[in-house]
Amino acid sequence: MRIYKVGGAVRDRLLGKPVTDIDWVVVGATTEEMLAKGFRPVGADFPVFLHPKSGEEYALARTERKSGRGYGGFTFHASPEVTLEEDLIRRDLTINAMAEDDQQNLTDPYHGQRDLEARLLRHVSPAFAEDPLRVLRVARFAARYAALDFSVAAETLELMRQLSESGELEALTPERSWKEISRALMEDQPQVFVEVLRACGALKVLMPEVDALFGVPQPPAHHPEIDTGTHTLSVLQQAALHKQPLTVRWACLLHDLGKGLTPEDEWPRHIAHEFKGLKLIKAVNERFKVPRDCQELALLVGEYHTHGHRALELKPSTLLELLQSFDVYRRPQRFEEFIAACEMDARGRKGLEQRSYPQADYLRGAATAARSVAVQPLLEKGFKGPELGEAIKRERLKALKAYKETASI
Ligand code: CTP
Repeated sequence: MRIYKVGGAVRDRLLGKPVTDIDWVVVGATTEEMLAKGFRPVGADFPVFLHPKSGEEYALARTERKSGRGYGGFTFHASPEVTLEEDLIRRDLTINAMAEDDQQNLTDPYHGQRDLEARLLRHVSPAFAEDPLRVLRVARFAARYAALDFSVAAETLELMRQLSESGELEALTPERSWKEISRALMEDQPQVFVEVLRACGALKVLMPEVDALFGVPQPPAHHPEIDTGTHTLSVLQQAALHKQPLTVRWACLLHDLGKGLTPEDEWPRHIAHEFKGLKLIKAVNERFKVPRDCQELALLVGEYHTHGHRALELKPSTLLELLQSFDVYRRPQRFEEFIAACEMDARGRKGLEQRSYPQADYLRGAATAARSVAVQPLLEKGFKGPELGEAIKRERLKALKAYKETASI
């Protein structure tokens, strides 16, 4: 039995990046031998085991062949005769298809090291096409290594284009797609993920609502970059630069979907795009079974981001409605995330990246003012039920009027 480190651990060590997860491949062993050594089997799908002490994954070397659509459609063959080279050739990228023994001797039959040096994301073999999720994986790696100047090899992009056109992407489960999307959004350059998906035609399949934003103009006075797709990418980039959480990044990606629905004769204006976009945001949320907090924030940011920008001009009654919509009294964090998304939207415009955003503090101050209304005195005055609700609202409105008069921004 011979054991090798494979995949990301080898790649990241050669790149000088920290290695978090280590995957191992075992050549020349049977399931019975692994069990006898105390390894615990995981999952029914593949011959993968957990190390009894470290808990790391050890997989028997295997070959795979596609036998149907989607991820389930695989037959695999694992036996002590399967060689390391045979195991490596079924993998996605050359930089992920290197192995290393305990002396750090590299096995690199598909020239991963050469591609690392050339900064190329290149598929190992036509077997790449056997798992359509790899289209998203390559886009995610492109986002992760963009700062190191990596790009996708032309022939790999072509294969990704063929896969996107073949209808195979539709066979991906929402869970697998979302895992890739959410990881990609948390990379330092998430906009590259979207760009690569667009370049190979996968964006049109996965998120046609985002793809439709490219080529849609906005008024140059507010949007010097003009194009709505370009703007969306910049907003996402700002969100990453400002280390925003996933909820905010997801909301940034979807905030302007309504602009893709504007009739051309209304361009470059986008009247009521906030409302028009809601059904599209909902559709994307549902398509990928997006976690509830991300879904909610995306819908709220979609509906209210222009309120955020006009915060200083809003009437106290509109400000109150905004705060109520966010349930800012019980969900203060969600309102903070809304403010962050609005700020990223304001900065994600050509030449305006460094602008200040006084609306942020103004909105925080408004939330504090509304929250400062005490309920106890109203209870003592005898208000109950719906009347109490109305009385609280009146007091909050008073507090917001006073705030608007005194706030000095
Ligand atoms: N792999 C693959 N095709 C996939 C998923 C994984 O070929 N759809 C192979 C690659 O060789 C990859 C290895 O399995 O390097 C381990 O996969 P995973 O842990 O998902 O990714 P890593 O490459 O380790 O990258 P990350 O740092 O993103 O975890």
